[in-house]
Amino acid sequence: MIINLNEAFLKQQNLVAFNFFNVETLAAILDAAKVENKVIILSFGESYISHTPLQVAAVMAKEYSKLYDIPFVLHLDHATKVDTIKQAIDLGFTSVMYDGSRLPLVENIKNTAEVVKLAKERNVTVEGELGYLNKEDGSDQVEVVCTTVEDSVQYVNQTKVDALAIAVGNAHGLYKREPQIQISRISEISAAVNLPLVLHGSSGIPLSILADAYKHGIRKINVNTELAITGCRGIHKYILEHGADSRLENALSEAKANIQASTRQFLKI
Ligand code: 13P
Repeated sequence: MIINLNEAFLKQQNLVAFNFFNVETLAAILDAAKVENKVIILSFGESYISHTPLQVAAVMAKEYSKLYDIPFVLHLDHATKVDTIKQAIDLGFTSVMYDGSRLPLVENIKNTAEVVKLAKERNVTVEGELGYLNKEDGSDQVEVVCTTVEDSVQYVNQTKVDALAIAVGNAHGLYKREPQIQISRISEISAAVNLPLVLHGSSGIPLSILADAYKHGIRKINVNTELAITGCRGIHKYILEHGADSRLENALSEAKANIQASTRQFLKI
């Protein structure tokens, strides 16, 4: 069954969103969720559309939901265009993220409120973002601009989002040095907005820090890079063992096994 974010939070206190973009990533994540008996979020980034059309991602997720018979959220990640959000809702996505984090606050609020209005009519939940993070693929590693309590209160009150992604020392992709996650800032924002908070860029953050973040107000963590890298390592290992003149489906099976194992680690936090 495909449920929205609020329904998932009613079933489980804390959630992990894993990015998928093809059959292997999708099935590996669902296998792990089934084994660990956890509700998960399947995230599909707007930036993946050039690789996999949005309608194909939606159909894949819907068909796999019948095969696996477990509840999960089908979430559109980092959408910067309202048009993509409208399409995703029409295709059956149950949760969307509007990413206006690079816009001035007033414009971000205006656009997010518009998204919330159209999503609510269809029982779709909305995640907003405040504070500047680098690009979803981890490139463009600039200094993270942390989210403030004041902006969070204003943004949440004026947009009525269901969840808020914040910048507290996290970044997408591989960290160049040990990430310094500001747990006290998470607590302060959580106390002020009383809404599920989201931590993007969770790959590379030690699991003990992620557990601490959960204790202080983060209720959704996002994982992409670690799955992508472990998948590539699986293919690399397969090619080292069998040579490059191999069957692609066998190399992809190795990638899938690695992705499943990594997904399970995050679900154990
Ligand atoms: P990582 O790629 O750093 O795990 O971040 C994923 C993410 O935040 C997707 O929205």
